[in-house]
Amino acid sequence: MNASEIHLKNASPEGDSVLDRFHFLVNAPALFNAVATAVELGIFSHLSAQGSATFEQIREHVSIPPHQLRVLMQAVCTTGLLVRRDGVYENSAVAEDLLASDDDDSWSHILLGWKEVYYPAFSRMTSAMRSGTNTALSDYPGDEPTLYQRLSRNPDLESVFHRAMSAFTLRSVDELVERPEFSSVRHLLDIGGGDGTTSGKLSARHPEMKITVFDIPSVSELARDKTVSRFEGRVELHPGDFFQDEFPRGADSVLFSHVLEIFSAEQILGQLKKAYDALPSGGKVFIYGYNVSDDETRGIFSARLGLYFNVLASGQGMAYPAKDYETWLSQVGFDEVHTVSGLPYEHGLSMGRKP
Ligand SMILES: C[S@@+](CC[C@H](N)C(=O)[O-])C[C@H]1O[C@@H](n2cnc3c(N)ncnc32)[C@H](O)[C@@H]1O
Repeated sequence: MNASEIHLKNASPEGDSVLDRFHFLVNAPALFNAVATAVELGIFSHLSAQGSATFEQIREHVSIPPHQLRVLMQAVCTTGLLVRRDGVYENSAVAEDLLASDDDDSWSHILLGWKEVYYPAFSRMTSAMRSGTNTALSDYPGDEPTLYQRLSRNPDLESVFHRAMSAFTLRSVDELVERPEFSSVRHLLDIGGGDGTTSGKLSARHPEMKITVFDIPSVSELARDKTVSRFEGRVELHPGDFFQDEFPRGADSVLFSHVLEIFSAEQILGQLKKAYDALPSGGKVFIYGYNVSDDETRGIFSARLGLYFNVLASGQGMAYPAKDYETWLSQVGFDEVHTVSGLPYEHGLSMGRKP
């Protein structure tokens, strides 16, 4: 084997060395938690406000024992997110951009959501994979089949969860709302629209568009506070259960953003059929979300998501490759089926039109 063959054999799908990647990933769960703890202690925001700080200055701010702070700072420095020079700490450019602020799009909210909801569940992965059920859901009281429904019993955690989802959406949604396909939409039905973050962005970009956000009642209340109040008369709510209830009539387009991927092929076909029935001739359907590569070897964000669905959220679903969505759209009867791939964070937009 020559040198370039060895390099190819040892390269990960993303191109770096498999060995380096292995060494990082076996330590990553600990480092992820160290970074999340630094967020919770306000270390990144403090360094952002101060520009830089000594160990003693950070300790005065966070009030934790010096030895524990020493251990934590060493761990976070290994990630490169904090930089230490001559005993003085500062944020790296990435930490400053992603973790230092409390703005709605801050990665700090995403980390806390993943820490509270996703990663505790992953300790059940082997049992979930063996049994084919989302075994980690038993940690959440209730008998509803999905995490989304059970979270409505725990408003604080539901709010952390949707804040994380909203922040991620804000980080990734700009290219979606700029798509020219939305410029002709007059009334959009946003199925599983969550707290209305995507609808709010679409509404701000397309002032002529009316949007109906369909989500479960407790999440609709989050949307009322967060989005409806800002776009009075342009964004309305339709609280309900999209498995039990019909889709409201009158929209010329239906958006499924980060929704279909939660479910099985059979359930997805059911939801696409409901969209088809609710739309007039010429109406459009948009499926926006994560897509693994067609050969199902690439997509680390998509991988995490698929595992989370199967261990905790629904016990099925994955970040299906775009070609699966195209097949399902055609099966239901949509034409002009196609996908815009390569959107940020492994996202794609699959579309169809009712003949
Ligand atoms: C992953 S979130 C996506 C939120 C938003 N569309 C976005 O892109 O950020 C999935 C949403 O589907 C909603 N959902 C799940 N099952 C539902 C059901 N049976 N009926 C109505 N909404 C549901 C959840 O409450 C949640 O807000």
